[in-house]
Amino acid sequence: MSIAHLDTPFRITRPLAAHFADACIHLNHADEPWGRDTLRTLGNRTRECAPDLVEQVRQQLAAGASCMALRIAGTPLTSCLNTADGAGRMLGAATLLGLSMAVGFHPFGFRQERAGALIHDVLPEPGAEARVSSSGRVQFDLHADCAYLDRALRPEILAFICLHDETGTETEIATLADVLEELSEDIVHQLALPDYIHRAPASFSGETRERLSSIIDRVDGRWEIKVATHSCEPRTEGARHALGALIESARKQRQACRWAPGQILMLKNRECLHGRRAIRPGARHLLRCYGSTTQAPGAIVDLEAMTSSGQHHSR
Ligand SMILES: [Fe+2]
Repeated sequence: MSIAHLDTPFRITRPLAAHFADACIHLNHADEPWGRDTLRTLGNRTRECAPDLVEQVRQQLAAGASCMALRIAGTPLTSCLNTADGAGRMLGAATLLGLSMAVGFHPFGFRQERAGALIHDVLPEPGAEARVSSSGRVQFDLHADCAYLDRALRPEILAFICLHDETGTETEIATLADVLEELSEDIVHQLALPDYIHRAPASFSGETRERLSSIIDRVDGRWEIKVATHSCEPRTEGARHALGALIESARKQRQACRWAPGQILMLKNRECLHGRRAIRPGARHLLRCYGSTTQAPGAIVDLEAMTSSGQHHSR
């Protein structure tokens, strides 16, 4: 299944921009106290001002699209996304949050990841270039986000927006449907066995967490995936062989998404893997937010509290 490219560009009309600015005016971009009411307002305004786009995204989601690409276009405001300054970043953040809310996914964060921020900067950070993470510059192999967490806690959707990219470093995406087509029944069976150790990514603080589980799971008749291919550790020879076959298939099936200011990507985190090659020299700045249909808008999940109360257990 290919990436669905939506024909309707997301036009930030003047009224929508005014609403976004209004919602953001008192927020400090380094510390984002996005309240539930602010998020609901952003979602409502997006629905009112871009009904065609919102409907198109909803239809694609309902039709089973695993990944969608769309672009902000058509207004002078687009140019402010070309700078990585506070105003451009805030507009990008409001766009991601408003669009996520408008299509039914509530932005949320984790207290153990970037102190619960709802918007994550995806850009190489000085001193972290060698880390395999969204703040690194080295290759970041195909993965699902938060693969080590319970299904109920993993983001259902990941939304990205490009503020700036002079490096030409594409994000690569492989849909699970495409990856599975290449795999034998034996490999699929093995991937569904709990023979893999999943580890917390580098962006999470606190004690090192790991979980023994499967890589794919059958949920309501559909396959889902959770794996970070660079850090997942198979426990048996059969598991190692199956993970190797999965990686080979995913690399064969991956599609590249090139970034330009205003480019938006929404992908279903349980149905896709994403990654990138090493970031070439130059500046590159994306924003990301997690979306959920079960978390409250703006929820900050505390993994420590959940672990100690015994709620952090399931598939
Ligand atoms: Fe990621």
